[in-house]
Amino acid sequence: MTETQIRTHSSRSIRSVLALWTVASAFFYCYPATAADGNSGKTYTAEELRRSDWINDGMEKFNSACTYCHGSKGQGGKVKSFTERTGWKPETIHDVITNGRIRGANVMPPWGGSMSDDEIWKLVAYIKSLSLDFQGPLPPP
Ligand code: HEC
Repeated sequence: MTETQIRTHSSRSIRSVLALWTVASAFFYCYPATAADGNSGKTYTAEELRRSDWINDGMEKFNSACTYCHGSKGQGGKVKSFTERTGWKPETIHDVITNGRIRGANVMPPWGGSMSDDEIWKLVAYIKSLSLDFQGPLPPP
């Protein structure tokens, strides 16, 4: 290679590295914002989440998006089965679904950017309905 060829070559790769960096940083810059947008700041009590329509909607959503990793009742994941829980706080469940969680090689993806906050609360209602201490569904208010 002549000197000019080398210079052209390296400036082209610098340009592609820069382009990649711009795309990647734009993604990481936007991502938390989208995730935060999914959270309306509303909260619901365990009692309010007993409504049967939400539990059913949550179950459908869970079956399409979550069973792949968690099994149909949260019994197949990297965490204690969802059917063996007591006193699991709705906000805690909502927070993990919205923001995700990484513990070593165990990656729970964040869903706040791809689901509405209501959809996430319906998933919480379904997950709570699997708990050992679930008091049973109530008709929608
Ligand atoms: C790619 C696999 C994967 C998918 C898909 C997934 N999860 Fe997870 N989830 C995990 C892993 C792994 C953990 C455990 C993370 C850890 O160890 O802290 C987890 C943790 C959780 C927890 C917290 C459990 C606890 O004991 O604190 C909840 C709640 C949860 N997931 C709900 C969901 C819901 C609802 C969906 C569907 C919208 C979903 N997950 C989809 C892998 C997944």
